[in-house]
Amino acid sequence: MKDLTQCVVTPNVKTEGFASLGPAIHRASTIVFENAEAYAKRGERGHDGYSYGLYGTPTTRTLEEKLTRLEQGVRTFLLPSGQAANTIAMLPFLKAGDKVLIADTTYPPLRDFANSELTRFGIDVDYYDAVDPADLESRIDTRTKIVWCESPGSTTMEVQDLPRIAEIAHRYGALVGFDNTWATPLYYKPLTLGADIVTEALTKYVSGHSDLLLGSLTVADESLIAPIRTALGRYGIGVSPDDAALALRGFETLGIRLKHAEAGAQALIAEIARHPLVTRVLHPALPDCPGHAIWKRDFTGANGLFSVLFTPAATPHVASALDVLNTFSIGASWGGTHSLMAPMPVKAHRTARPWKEEDLILRISVGLEDPEDLMTDVTALLAEITARVERQAPA
Ligand SMILES: Cc1ncc(COP(=O)(O)O)c(C=O)c1O
Repeated sequence: MKDLTQCVVTPNVKTEGFASLGPAIHRASTIVFENAEAYAKRGERGHDGYSYGLYGTPTTRTLEEKLTRLEQGVRTFLLPSGQAANTIAMLPFLKAGDKVLIADTTYPPLRDFANSELTRFGIDVDYYDAVDPADLESRIDTRTKIVWCESPGSTTMEVQDLPRIAEIAHRYGALVGFDNTWATPLYYKPLTLGADIVTEALTKYVSGHSDLLLGSLTVADESLIAPIRTALGRYGIGVSPDDAALALRGFETLGIRLKHAEAGAQALIAEIARHPLVTRVLHPALPDCPGHAIWKRDFTGANGLFSVLFTPAATPHVASALDVLNTFSIGASWGGTHSLMAPMPVKAHRTARPWKEEDLILRISVGLEDPEDLMTDVTALLAEITARVERQAPA
């Protein structure tokens, strides 16, 4: 072999005797075939074979297999973000004239996708009250092909009764899709409670370090594999094995991070909830959170994400008071090792059950920092909001 060829060719080295605990990272667009016949027959390799990098590598399949087992489904697909997982969970099953019913409390960018993209293709989009199955029953009809759930709801944390929702949806022949990002497959298993498709924004708790975007979609039934796999190929959607490896690494510590974040959240909630300028704290493990009884019945744990509602006098000061934070950062993508706060508007994203409380909610994601530093920040924030309210109050 000439030098230039040596530069290009990958030498075979001994792998026997090498066993590591971390998954190998396989990068590939091209898959090479042992002979011309194998190449000609590559289409026969099926969903589990390798024929092109877009359709998966051993690294991405390793993460997919882990998710399939944890979700108790039959097959998982990875996508470049949680949002992509949610949109691709819908697209292959819809055509003009169909209808989609989406929980009113769903992640706002998914509403945006439905309102602007699905309607552009002649698909009817409607929203149902997430905590009132009778409202779903009153809106559903035989044109409905997908009933979408997200529980607990984005920012406002309402817990949905999935078995009841699935019973209604299936009676009309609709598929049930479920965004399980909050609970992760460790604390909730939607496919065992009636969902047909479960999605995760792995970007959040699973990867856990705020440094990658990734989503997953797991199906309960073999018949759902082909439409999704075909759509992914047609749209040209695949993910990087490096990102999959990072998510696999994050998975190893998921259990312990969730427990730690929940304990940290409970300590902060106890302090925040008794403050006179706070009207409510929203977290499924709190008895007054809508759907708490369902959370207790169906979930096996909670995490470190919660929301705080302030009085009408305090709410206008919340966003600017965040400037006093030291340990917390201001940012939206929750579930990482760094604690975050983000002011979130709600009213514009609720139509089936209009939001009647203050529009702005403070969403808090507790990470892994020392609890004392987090408490110091929370105390300073509450003091700053109080000072601003008092400065404005008439003498
Ligand atoms: C519940 C939920 N689903 C999906 C997503 C989207 O995930 P990604 O940021 O990976 O697109 C988010 C992001 O905040 C989310 O909160």
